[in-house]
Amino acid sequence: MSAQNQVRRATAPEITARKGKDPIICLTAYDAPTAQLLDDYCDLILVGDSVGMVVHGLTTTVGVTLEMMIMHGQAVMRGSQKALVVVDLPFGYYEDSPERAFKNAARVMRETGCQAVKIESGSYAAETIAYLVERGIPVMSHVGLRPQSMNVLGGFRARGRSKAVAKEIVENAIAAADAGSFAVVVEGVSAELADKVTRAVRIPTVGIGASPGCDGQILVTPDMLGMFDRVPKFVKKYADIKGLIETAVKAYRAEVTDRSFPGENNTYKFSE
Ligand code: KIV
Repeated sequence: MSAQNQVRRATAPEITARKGKDPIICLTAYDAPTAQLLDDYCDLILVGDSVGMVVHGLTTTVGVTLEMMIMHGQAVMRGSQKALVVVDLPFGYYEDSPERAFKNAARVMRETGCQAVKIESGSYAAETIAYLVERGIPVMSHVGLRPQSMNVLGGFRARGRSKAVAKEIVENAIAAADAGSFAVVVEGVSAELADKVTRAVRIPTVGIGASPGCDGQILVTPDMLGMFDRVPKFVKKYADIKGLIETAVKAYRAEVTDRSFPGENNTYKFSE
């Protein structure tokens, strides 16, 4: 494809400009075929570190490495053309210093070609966000339930039940926005708190387990496709992909067993 007729990708500033307008449609992807399927329907595709749990079988996201994120980021970039692709920086690769965060974020952007990174944003994060943005790296922040901190938070429970924590979540979102984030994911909080965050920041909020009043929504794609029996309360299953796979694999097993597969249409015949 020549540079001229290449499809243009959405940009971080375009996502920011959607604040208060049409909801921003976001989903996660980790491979090229899924990214290709989502691309026509999503403004933003997140290569989330949820990949550790929904693809690699880890019990938390803590074990995800930068190399895993780069490999999945490359696949998603190959599969998509239009959506803004954001890659998560995994646990342990950005929290200790802005310089290290920059080095790792720049590597992710250089090696995948993605347009932005996401970081989970506790109160320590504002300095890092400003450092990255000033140096050319668009940052999406992530407040509320921060899965990389589940060992401190005590699990994947919704957050902001107490006034103090709710206040802290709003403050983290404001700090992340003021530091230059182009959007902020708000995860696992009450609808009321999510609406408060949405009103408090000048950047779009992208809700997951939050509120329909957020500026956009995101779900983990295998969760919403029905790949797993157990999913968080906030997930709506839009399909039963697990059931479809089971039905197909059972049929395949039966046909291999009774030798009706491969049939005539699935075998080669060379005529002389
Ligand atoms: O890792 C991920 O998929 C995420 C979404 C849940 C927002 O961070």
